Amino acid sequence: MAGRAAMLVNLGTVVMTVLTLASFVEGFGVNWGNIASHPLNPDIVVRMLKENKINKVKLFDADSWTMNALAGSGMEVMVGIPNNLLETLADDYGNAKDWVKENITAYMRKDGVNIKYVAVGNEPFLSAYNGSYLKTTFPALKNIHRALKEAGHTDVMKATIPQNAEVYESANDKPSEGDFRSDVKQIMLDIVKFFHDNDLPFTVNIYPFLSLYLNQHFPVEYAFFDGNGQTIPDNGKNYDNVFDANYDTLVYALNKAGIKDMKIIVGEVGWPTDGHKYATPKLAEKFYAGLMKRLAKDVGTPLRPEKLEVYLFGLLDEDMKSILPGPFERHWGIFRYDGTPKFMLDFTGQGRKIVPVAAKGVQYLDKQWCVVNKDTINLDEVGPDLDYACYHGDCTAMLYGSTCSNLDKIQNISYAFNMFFQIQGQDVRACDFRGSAMITKNNASVGSCLFPIQIVSGSGDFRISYVFGRFIVAGLILLGLVAAI
Ligand SMILES: *[C@@H]1O[C@H](CO)[C@@H](O)[C@H](O)[C@H]1NC(C)=O
Ligand SMILES: *[C@@H]1O[C@H](CO)[C@@H](O)[C@H](O)[C@H]1NC(C)=O
Ligand SMILES: *[C@@H]1O[C@H](CO)[C@@H](O)[C@H](O)[C@H]1NC(C)=O
Ligand SMILES: *[C@@H]1O[C@H](CO)[C@@H](O)[C@H](O)[C@H]1NC(C)=O
Repeated sequence: MAGRAAMLVNLGTVVMTVLTLASFVEGFGVNWGNIASHPLNPDIVVRMLKENKINKVKLFDADSWTMNALAGSGMEVMVGIPNNLLETLADDYGNAKDWVKENITAYMRKDGVNIKYVAVGNEPFLSAYNGSYLKTTFPALKNIHRALKEAGHTDVMKATIPQNAEVYESANDKPSEGDFRSDVKQIMLDIVKFFHDNDLPFTVNIYPFLSLYLNQHFPVEYAFFDGNGQTIPDNGKNYDNVFDANYDTLVYALNKAGIKDMKIIVGEVGWPTDGHKYATPKLAEKFYAGLMKRLAKDVGTPLRPEKLEVYLFGLLDEDMKSILPGPFERHWGIFRYDGTPKFMLDFTGQGRKIVPVAAKGVQYLDKQWCVVNKDTINLDEVGPDLDYACYHGDCTAMLYGSTCSNLDKIQNISYAFNMFFQIQGQDVRACDFRGSAMITKNNASVGSCLFPIQIVSGSGDFRISYVFGRFIVAGLILLGLVAAI
């Protein structure tokens, strides 16, 4: 493992250790998404990031609450523009100017936000979108770049477009055969030329897990960084993992477009922990351990041996994400929905068997669960209730190969009921199901299948009760005054 960090620790100079750790930490960040029924309070998240010595984050929007939590933290930030804004930003330069003013310039103050990148769209050319963003992404990028330039921000930050690795391909999986996908080739060439002319980085999301998920003949070890699998020779280079092969496929595609030195950022890379037989905490631990060691060594890919710049995906589980790509989609977090870590991971890359630092100060809802009422349930008629609970709740951990796939029929229904009840903030009306459910104070978890309790979330109930609480206090003071008179 060695790594520069470990070597310098041996030199024994505290100062150098600090410097080295700092320089390593610059190498990676994490994706912080918020498609959750109960998002963690951003102040708690920022503190958790700092305690784990994570100094870079990538966001999917410019939510003001998150941005204000990041203000003054020194954290390096990639701000995001969601795909649904691309059209208005493409249509009218004035809209791009407004976006920059409200979501960038407003934070460019002393103790503001250290914004380094603006991500225009998110995987806009994904084939699942049927080309919906093909016409708007590039014009939106150009308008945002121009607005950033006009506002004087381009010295400190750059616009980019996080693309999925599907925008390029290669015959026979050989990196050297890499080129942009034929149906998006012209637009990719135009974008890449603009990036080159304006010194903007190419951002790509690379998912070894998906290689494994999509191809049942994929050699499992080739998804990891341990070098235990086969080695594939290509054009004088040897590849022992799919991440390197994928990254270099992009490098070849860029080379074919006449571009030799474009900076590449890996916008997302990670491993999910539930919802598929290969989505387990154990394999996620293995994947991240290999990745972090690589990052600590500052070793790039065979074609680009210099240091990699990557953002892990992701920080937290997101229970409201679309499961169109697969049920694992809600389980990408290194941390659970409540900021508790799922597996061992040494963010410094020294490979120590340590668990990340959990979020502190998280408040939970009451210790109660919604389960089947065995006295009243009619198993022949519960089907529609189960479907309803799963559609509006999250049953992705119940499917084949997942942590809750071994429940019996009653436990199964209880799990679905509870997920719905928790997502609804434990509203008593959400634990009825035509009389077949009941609330219990007994922990309903079964073996390794966790029946979660949701958290008090700042974005919804917490704020309401806080305001309400203040109202009551104000009311009491008033009453007191009236009584005193
Ligand atoms: C700023 O970003 C937020 C969050 O992404 C978005 O809702 C808002 O519309 C943006 N402001 C402008 C002026 O576009
Ligand atoms: C894309 O097309 C498919 C098949 O025609 C359709 O099922 C799907 O809903 C479309 N998706 C979007 C985002 O338009
Ligand atoms: C539990 O529910 C899941 C998802 O609906 C289903 O696939 C599984 O067969 C159910 N198990 C039992 C024992 O009913
Ligand atoms: C319920 O039990 C599970 C499994 O034993 C445990 O992990 C979890 O923390 C418990 N939940 C609460 C709220 O006590």
